[in-house]
Amino acid sequence: MHFRKTLIPLLAAAVALPFLFAITGCKKKDEVDSSGAAKPAKILIGLSLADLKEERWQRDRDFFVAKAEALGAEVIVQDASGDPNAQLRQCDGLLAKGVQVLVVVPKNADAARPIVLNANARGVKVISYDRLIADAPVDLYLSFDNVKVGEIQAQAIVDRVPAGNYLILKGDPADKNSDMIHQGHLHVLQPLIDAGKIKIAAVQSCDKWLRSEALRITADALQKNKIDAIVASNDGTASGAIAALQAKGLAGKVPVSGQDADLIACQNVWKGLQAVTVYKPIQKLAEVAAEQAVKAARGEAMDAGSEKLKNGGYEVPTLFLEPIAVTKENILQTVVADGFHTEAEIKQ
Ligand code: GAL
Repeated sequence: MHFRKTLIPLLAAAVALPFLFAITGCKKKDEVDSSGAAKPAKILIGLSLADLKEERWQRDRDFFVAKAEALGAEVIVQDASGDPNAQLRQCDGLLAKGVQVLVVVPKNADAARPIVLNANARGVKVISYDRLIADAPVDLYLSFDNVKVGEIQAQAIVDRVPAGNYLILKGDPADKNSDMIHQGHLHVLQPLIDAGKIKIAAVQSCDKWLRSEALRITADALQKNKIDAIVASNDGTASGAIAALQAKGLAGKVPVSGQDADLIACQNVWKGLQAVTVYKPIQKLAEVAAEQAVKAARGEAMDAGSEKLKNGGYEVPTLFLEPIAVTKENILQTVVADGFHTEAEIKQ
């Protein structure tokens, strides 16, 4: 009898206490600091990267994590190594770990749609980082103006070759940025094509932004046509095009564009093998993303830009940062001045 008299009240207390805390708002000891003040809930952010192939994504990751941690958040980073299915699984894992916001660089814009739907089902916000997840209610698309990137690339080439045969190397067809960049190319090139000054010898997509794809396409184009200029959509594909030109003794004679201010590309710009790269201040993009992610995790409204991008059946709040044209003439005042690369590295 005595046993029951003590056990039953204890059991009742064990069951009732958590509810008591919940109702009275009393914090469990780990939710208050030494003075008894409520500690802010831990912010947990999931960062899902498509891959780390281009050096810029390593910088995006490092700048993002540093800023988020400076703001008191914890970041779990996942690298899908180029596999869209792995990215889906990893994001499910992040949601299961209780992240309060997901920041995603989609490997495949269409395949990444379920990530947003699964997150929304749990009330988790999604920031589409530098690439737009297609046809999904993304909470914020944060990127550089990719149409402007394409305009910068094409204009730098037209400035050098106002007439002639052009090869256009588009980016990965699974990356929505590739079409936006090409839209920018045509804003500059179409009037010259219509005027009969420029002829497009070939326009082809480089699967997965692969350097090897650009090399193969450029070598093939050089076999079949006289090529006077190459509009390449990023530095990896520019590097493939330059390798194909080198095999024909044409490197430095046929201007090539790029994007990302990769070190090799900046060295090639300095040497005159690449006409332009487009520098996108990655630190600024990553830090703005971290600030927005912390806001979202705290349940605060994100500062979306004025733009709303149509995204299938949705309008996505969009924030575009300005890309910068980098040529030999201004590389020291941009990429080097920002500390993105050193002068010594570039002049190697
Ligand atoms: C694109 C991005 C480019 C380049 C490319 C290669 O989405 O807009 O800046 O990084 O990916 O990864």
